[in-house]
Amino acid sequence: MLDQETFRSALRAPHLGRSFRFLHATDSTSDQARRDAMEGAPHGHLVAAEIQTAGRGRKGRAWTAPEGVNLSFSLLLRPKIPVSQVPSLTLCAAVGCRDAIADALGPAAEGIGIKWPNDLLHGGRKLCGILSEMSLTARGELDFAIVGIGLNVNLDPDALPPPLCDTATSLRRIAGHPLDRSLLLALLAKRLEDAFDLGFQGLADRYRQASCTLGTPVRAIMESEILEGTAVDLTPSGALVIRTDDGTARTVLAGDVEHLRAPS
Ligand code: BTN
Repeated sequence: MLDQETFRSALRAPHLGRSFRFLHATDSTSDQARRDAMEGAPHGHLVAAEIQTAGRGRKGRAWTAPEGVNLSFSLLLRPKIPVSQVPSLTLCAAVGCRDAIADALGPAAEGIGIKWPNDLLHGGRKLCGILSEMSLTARGELDFAIVGIGLNVNLDPDALPPPLCDTATSLRRIAGHPLDRSLLLALLAKRLEDAFDLGFQGLADRYRQASCTLGTPVRAIMESEILEGTAVDLTPSGALVIRTDDGTARTVLAGDVEHLRAPS
């Protein structure tokens, strides 16, 4: 189980995680964080759970994890930003997670890349997924955002059913040893707060360096079309620029991206 005292005494973030609840089971930590937000929970409130009965990923997909081995948590953010900047929170979260993992793993973390917009991969396998959601005021302004993070920590990917056993990885697999999840969660809170404070503009170069999508042939699956080409750049707001085979540059604001060859 996650240990509250270990987390509390290791926490260095000024805001994220100062208010927190560790639950044995909940529907989704993001739903719980939303309920807490409605009852006035502060900026930086963190909800983590060992079991999610209705965990969800991007595009309405289910997100499941075996009990007690991974980190499934959500952060409540109340930033003063326009709604148009909310998607960039997810990009910041990817950099923050990668930084925290680098703190925990050292050089072993070097092969971890960010698949646009916000998955962390290692050797082409998924290590971490991030889902950002928002709630607006009656005037259409941002009330709060919830950033939900699922990170495979001590998972044994070989114990998963197909196809996950071939597509997932974990920090334990990468590092070669298990990690203390409560200490790691404190590192995550600190690095995520640093990343949110910098904002995407302050992080764009580091995001580019960590990207395993840029320079790669990709297929972008959007609501109205499927686009193939090479991912060449990011716009200042973090949208992906794809150069198609006829040389046209197209910008993808949201959607699923598949890598057409394994990232090196
Ligand atoms: C994805 O890659 O599709 C995003 C996965 C996000 C999963 C996390 S686990 C904690 C939080 N609670 C949820 O229901 N989802 C997010």
